[in-house]
Amino acid sequence: RDVPAIGGKSFTAVAINSAAKAGEWIKTKLGKHTTLNLKYSAQDLVTEVDKGAETMIRNLIMTHFPHHSFLGEEGVQPGPEASERALSNVQDEEYLWIVDPVDGTTNFVHGFPFFSVSIALAHKGEVIVGIVYDPMRDELFVAEKGKGAYVHGQRMSVSEEADLRESLVATGFPADPLMLQPNLQQLQAIAPQVRNIRSGGSAALHMAYVAAGRLSGFWEQGLNAWDLAAGYLLIKESGGRVSDMAGEPYHLGVRHVAATNGRIHDSFVDELKKAGAASRTEG
Ligand code: IPD
Ligand code: CA
Ligand code: CA
Ligand code: CA
Repeated sequence: RDVPAIGGKSFTAVAINSAAKAGEWIKTKLGKHTTLNLKYSAQDLVTEVDKGAETMIRNLIMTHFPHHSFLGEEGVQPGPEASERALSNVQDEEYLWIVDPVDGTTNFVHGFPFFSVSIALAHKGEVIVGIVYDPMRDELFVAEKGKGAYVHGQRMSVSEEADLRESLVATGFPADPLMLQPNLQQLQAIAPQVRNIRSGGSAALHMAYVAAGRLSGFWEQGLNAWDLAAGYLLIKESGGRVSDMAGEPYHLGVRHVAATNGRIHDSFVDELKKAGAASRTEG
């Protein structure tokens, strides 16, 4: 396994151990029968593995840091209102762990081997540790605020492209039908401008890939802090930029995200904005 250059007996070490344990377990469940339930829509899935992994991570973190707060996707009621409520007073929390136990549940259910465990720690609303773990490739992406971001123990940096025409960008297809439509409008506007588009089905891994320079950019509407917080720090510590769709800097309440190598950020956001405005006037 990877030994990251940062860690020790620390918040980061606990995050890494929790993600590694959960990841190993999730991997053993791939392709096996698991109970499947629908959440907010017919596209919004949850399995016993999502819940089991979240419990596993929560227990491990709480054993080490019993006074910290914990926000996990599966502990929140489905739908945007509940997630907004859950994040409404993050600034007041001393230490808050933000966890997506399986990012890419649809992939997991179909045996498409692209999903991740995402764990972030925020101190008074500011992300200080972010890790994304891909159990299928045993790839661990780790960032600590001010200390850089690493994969396979090597420092990461974002890609060099400065032009949309040379850029490989990714998006998702949101499970919430209200978010899917504007996202599709943006896809239609962006696709002809870039080298190509990818959609792997794990927002957290897409963010990690931007940090690692494997993607030039990523955008998606209707995400939540558990999809984004860890990836945000990975990208920031790798020299990239993360913002909302208006270009304002990322914070834990951002749901519509644009994340890039920094160099393409302004032109990328301009295109996304234009498409967004067009979709609104079309009604
Ligand atoms: C989903 C994944 C997917 C994205 C969805 C997310 P989940 O998270 O990140 O790539 O398109 O919008 O909800 O539900 O698999 O944790
Ligand atoms: Ca989900
Ligand atoms: Ca997710
Ligand atoms: Ca999830």
